[in-house]
Formats: sequence, C-alpha cells, structure tokens
Amino acid sequence: MAAYEYETHYYDAIVVGAGGAGLRATLGLAEQGLKTACISKVFPTRSHTVAAQGGIAASLGNMGPDSWQWHMYDTVKGSDWLGDMDAMEYLTREAPKAVYELEHYGVPFSRTEKGEIYQRPFGGHTTEFGEGPPVQRTCAAADRTGHAILHTLYGQSLKQQAEFYIEYFAMDLIMSEDGVCQGVIAWKLDDGTMHIFNAKTVVLATGGYGRAFFSATSAHTCTGDGGGMVARQGLPLQDMEFVQFHPTGIYGAGCLITEGARGEGGYLTNSEGERFMERYAPTYKDLASRDVVSRCMTMEIREGRGVGADGDHIHLHLNHLPKETLDLRLPGISESARIFAGVDLTKEPIPVLPTVHYNMGGIPTNYMGEVLNPTADNPDAIVPGLMAVGEAGCASVHGANRLGSNSLIDLVVFGRAAAIRAGEVVDRNASNPTLNQASVDYAFDRFDGLRHAKGETATADLRLEMQKAMQKDAAVFRTDKTLAEGVVAMEEIAGKMGDIKVTDRSLVWNSDLMETLELTNLMPNALATIVAAEARKESRGAHAHEDYPDRDDVNWRVHSLAVVDGAKTTLTTRPVHLDPLTTESEGGIDLKKIAPKARVY
Ligand code: FUM
Repeated sequence: MAAYEYETHYYDAIVVGAGGAGLRATLGLAEQGLKTACISKVFPTRSHTVAAQGGIAASLGNMGPDSWQWHMYDTVKGSDWLGDMDAMEYLTREAPKAVYELEHYGVPFSRTEKGEIYQRPFGGHTTEFGEGPPVQRTCAAADRTGHAILHTLYGQSLKQQAEFYIEYFAMDLIMSEDGVCQGVIAWKLDDGTMHIFNAKTVVLATGGYGRAFFSATSAHTCTGDGGGMVARQGLPLQDMEFVQFHPTGIYGAGCLITEGARGEGGYLTNSEGERFMERYAPTYKDLASRDVVSRCMTMEIREGRGVGADGDHIHLHLNHLPKETLDLRLPGISESARIFAGVDLTKEPIPVLPTVHYNMGGIPTNYMGEVLNPTADNPDAIVPGLMAVGEAGCASVHGANRLGSNSLIDLVVFGRAAAIRAGEVVDRNASNPTLNQASVDYAFDRFDGLRHAKGETATADLRLEMQKAMQKDAAVFRTDKTLAEGVVAMEEIAGKMGDIKVTDRSLVWNSDLMETLELTNLMPNALATIVAAEARKESRGAHAHEDYPDRDDVNWRVHSLAVVDGAKTTLTTRPVHLDPLTTESEGGIDLKKIAPKARVY
C-alpha cells in the first residue's frame, strides 16, 4: 500500500471544477450558508467556459416575441427526441430567471437601444414551434459571453466566502462500501502535497472530454476527469455516442468561430461559391441545427466541392457585414481569424471545418443534478452524496444533439439547481462521514502506480493514438465498418495503459504524471463513446449512421449506459423521460407539440 501523508479538509459541499457550472453551483451553495469549497486544476477564470463565445439561450423576448414553450420545442427537436422532457422543461422555464440573476450579479451583457439584454439568432432556435421565422434568443456579451459569465461568477463566489483550492488536481472519488460519495482526493500541483476533501456532497463540474479527439475546439484541459472518476467506481456513463461537431472550427487550428457569426448574417459557401445550405435546409439555411450544418459541409467536401488546394474545407463569409457590426458584435473572432487563419475577415472568407466541440453524453443525472446509478427496479436510482453538472453531466437536456447557446444556459440552470437541491438534502448540523479507508487506499495506490510506471509507451504517444482513432472512427458520418474498426482500435489502445511510461517521478509540477492521470480519464470516456456508437443501429442527432440512415424510435428512443472496466465496456439502457414536469392545464407545453416527427429545418 502506497504511503502518502495528507491533509484532511471538511466541508458541507465540494465542487470539482470552476467553469460556468462549477462556479454557479459554488455560488449557490455558499449563498445558502453551506461550507463550500471549489477545487480546480486551473485558475477559475481560465476554465474552458472562458472560450464560450456566442451566448446563452433564454426566451427573454427582448428582440421579438418568444416563449419558454417555443424554446422547449426547439430543444426537444434539437435533441432529436432523446432528451428527458422533465429536464428540458426545467431548463427552458428557468432560463430567463437564471439569465436575469446573471445580469444582477454583474455580467456585462451587450445592450439594445432600449438598454435591454441584446439577443442574437442561433441555429435551431425558432418561433411558433418551428413554424415561424428564426428567433433572437441568444443573450450575448459581444462574442465573449463565457468570459463575462466566468469572471462575474468567480467574483460573486469569493464575495460569498466560498473557498478555492486552485491548481489542485482531483484524482478520485472516495466512496463508502454501500455506494455513498464521501469526498475526493486531490494532488496540489505546485507543492506536491496530498489532500482529502471530506464532504457531505460532491458536485462534479469537470467539463467535457473533447481532447479524446485529434481536432477539437475544447481546451487541452477538457479531459473528462469527472467521467473518469465515476467510471472507476463502476458507475455508468450515459449517451456517450453523441459527440457534437461545431460547423465552424478554423481549418487547421481547430479554434472556434462562433455560430453567432452566422447569427449576425454570415454564410457558408463551397468551391463553386454556392450558398449550399439553401439547398439542404431551405427554411433556416445556415441557421439550421449544427449537426445538420456539419453534415452538409461534410457532404459538400466529399462530393468534391470543398475549397482550398486540397478541397478539404469550406468558406465562412463575414466580409459583406458592416465593419461596425464586426467591431461591436464579433470583436473576438475578428482577432481569432487574423491570428489563427491569417485572414482579415472584413475582406476575405474564413476557412472552416466541422470540429469536435461538445459531448452530449456524460454522467447521468436527474434534473436536480443528482447522479444516477440505474438498477433493474429503479432506472432513476441516485448515488447519495454525488452530483454532476455542466458538460460533465447528462441531465439529459441535449439528447442526441445540443442547440448552440443551450450549453451556457445548461451550466447556470443546472449549477443553480444542484445548489438548491444540496441545500435541501445536506444536513448542516450532521458530522462529516467517516471515510472508507479502502477507497482512500485505492486512490493512493493508483496514483503511486502511475507515478512509478516503467512501461514502454509514452503518455503523449498513446494519447495521440487514441485521438487519431477517435477522430477517424467516431466521425461526423459513421458506418458499421468504421465503428467496428474503432472499437477494435480503442480496445487495443486502452489495453496499452498497462504499458505506460512516466519518466518524471517528482510530485511538484509534474506535467508528465498529470497528463497520465488525465489520460486515464480520457480513456474510459473514449471507449464508452465508440462502443455505444457501434451498438446504436440508427441515425439520431449527432450520430449519423450511414448503414441506418433513419431514426428508429421504436427500438432506439432510449438512453445508452456504458460501464467501463479497463478496456472492457458493458452496455445497458435506461428509458427516456417522456413526461414534462407540468401538464398543459398546469401551464405546461401541449404534448402534441413535442411528439416525435421528422426533423427538418
Ligand atoms: O458558436 C458558439 O458560440 C458556441 C456556442 C455553444 O456551443 O453553445
């Protein structure tokens, strides 16, 4: 057994991760007087939410008529009828309140002439239950909305006396023998000390796992740490086959060019200069849902109408827009286009390509953020003491495909919901749990084993193998053949974890070891993704299966669950929640409006 000295900290609530969801949860917990700490492997305002550009969806109706029911309809349709209705109602109903709270906390939203929050159009957001024109629903702070939210929430959390453990890497959950979460173990990166956080509730807000792929808009820190921690406890991951490609990553660099660019009037063209989206989505064109736009771009490239010397990308035009619009609404991407594509977007189009952007799947939760461990008797059984929010979680509001700007609203609505729920269930007067020593020993042994790993395979090499396999086989379009090859490749790659080589044995700023720990988190996320994708014999949302081009609601309107143990993945399913929170007579949505139908834009 590895012997590491450690310091123990006692809290009512621990939040792991300081992005939008983590900070909103931290703030909500601290506001209620719960003794709260937030652990983050990076400085909070460097969390990946800082990169969110275009905005946050809420039916404020500042720019024209809107309603939460229209927003819910769009979210249901965007999810390709895989999202849970109760969670989607909760999201869209609470969204305006959550945005006004952000405004009052101090988020510097862009303004209309009347001084109201500025809202722009985004893909898949419509009026009249998809029958009317696009709606301006996405509340924006220029094209730096995530940045504005993150800084505000961090300041507010400090004001509420939340404590921060910055540049601490959370390695593993501590679980009791009977499956209650009791805390986390973390490694302080700058001095090598070990820390146990004993907590009555743990909220995982660790973000997505975009870095399982070769080309992603996600930061290098997006390594699915929460999913990895959960998988190591034998708990399932949900709907992992659904990986979103954002239509406009900068070709070559992968950095995001916000969908807000098309919201402000930008459009895509092929090598013939054709605005091809008019052919595929005659009503909403470039503002169709982003899975649809990514597929259309890929088809144009495949059919020989890509641009550039190799005909392998697409052009995004903003050069027709007034300079004042670009300066006022899109200053950030003007800079990104110049730095990462060498393009002056007032004069030339930006070279773009669908790029991995978001994981719809994650740790299954109910709409209050409580983590689920479904059993045969109870598909909604919870894991006491454990919550997950934001991209790490799967509530599931995005189902098979997320609408643009529904991510930031997911972060704040469910970060807030988890805090409210914890306020109800955490007993402030109870003592903290007595920790399960076996769980603590497991975490230190695992850490020590990796620290002294003497295999032949360098972490960076194995990570690259995984990223290339995922990029190739869990792509925009999938077939039985590519998916089967992907499963074989990923099982072989995961099998090599036992041969990993770590060369730096120190405990202070050991990036070799930290990246190895991150790889142990990426790996189960990647495996679950490819195995669940191979099993799903239909096309739905972001899962475009060429051998099964249609959605199959009879057999596949069901959540997939993946339990990953080493290189082995076991799949089961869980029913989709078909009932919203309220009936029409209670003011809820008309069920006929959200009945499954063909998904056309
Ligand atoms: O295009 C964007 O600004 C991204 C937004 C989102 O993913 O929600």
